Amino acid sequence: TWTPAAFVETTVAELKAKIGDEKVILGLSGGVDSSVAAVLLNKAIGDNLHCIFVNNGLLRKNEFEDVLHQYKDMGLNVKGVDASARFLDALEGESDPEKKRKIIGRVFIEVFDDEAHKVENAKWLAQGTIYPDVIESVSATGGPSATIKSHHNVGGLPDFMKLKVVEPLKMLFKDEVRRVGKSMGLEPNLLGRHPFPGPGLAIRILGDITREKVAILQEVDHIFIQGLKEWGLYDQVWQAGAMLLPVNSVGVMGDERTYEKCVALRAVESTDGMTADWVNLPYAFLQKTSNDIINKVPGVNRVVYDISSKPPATIEWE
Ligand code: XMP
Repeated sequence: TWTPAAFVETTVAELKAKIGDEKVILGLSGGVDSSVAAVLLNKAIGDNLHCIFVNNGLLRKNEFEDVLHQYKDMGLNVKGVDASARFLDALEGESDPEKKRKIIGRVFIEVFDDEAHKVENAKWLAQGTIYPDVIESVSATGGPSATIKSHHNVGGLPDFMKLKVVEPLKMLFKDEVRRVGKSMGLEPNLLGRHPFPGPGLAIRILGDITREKVAILQEVDHIFIQGLKEWGLYDQVWQAGAMLLPVNSVGVMGDERTYEKCVALRAVESTDGMTADWVNLPYAFLQKTSNDIINKVPGVNRVVYDISSKPPATIEWE
């Protein structure tokens, strides 16, 4: 029978034998898979694991600092790279969803490659690939799902890097990854995190991206996610977030007319992201969240809740 403890023991031994005293590079995303992969490798090879955590300027509010801190506390050899300006400059003026994804994918590889080259004599690239990713990329070669959205995940291997690849979680499902992480003592807040797309808030800001829009959406998202946590709803939801719409609408504040932005909140139930249903969040929660957002975030005067299922809608709006 499969147990997390036995998996950890066998895998650590295998990794030691395979890698020896060579150096390994791993891109951390803040997500469950890359974090668990990093802790496993750290157990096997210690500081010969060089983790790179890139801030693309499109993460949630405080995410980069908080998660980097948490990784350091876990004893990982991690370097935080703030490349926000590089990403945001490259995205300037672009409003096409697929082009935004491509730009982010390209800049990520450039930044990651720059950093990887600073680690002398690295021989391996580690990735947090899990079993469903393997299946998805196989079906993606022929299936229609491949063409819907191009995904860019942390750790995509550029051909010119010529590193050997190590993927310790390749045979595991998500729940097994969580159990492995738990058995190695990873914090529940890391293991229970909602999925978050690689291109981050860029695909939740419809239309072109500006620093100001990113800042507005970070505030809105923060109020929503903190609210879900405070109301004990976070763990009942598979994924949640906010979208900044390219729409202004008329409102009133005091006796002044306003003409400001609209945000859509989305919370879904799902098991694998392939299909999803919107969550029937309590009206009282939605009411409080909407009031908080409109009162606290300048520039937003309207909040709507997305009640579309996947299919035919997707989880992200872009
Ligand atoms: P959709 O929007 O296709 O999303 O219903 C399904 C799941 O995938 C996430 N997603 C991404 N994840 N890179 C990622 O790493 C991406 O480019 C990307 N696009 C969507 C989405 O957040 C949801 O969990």
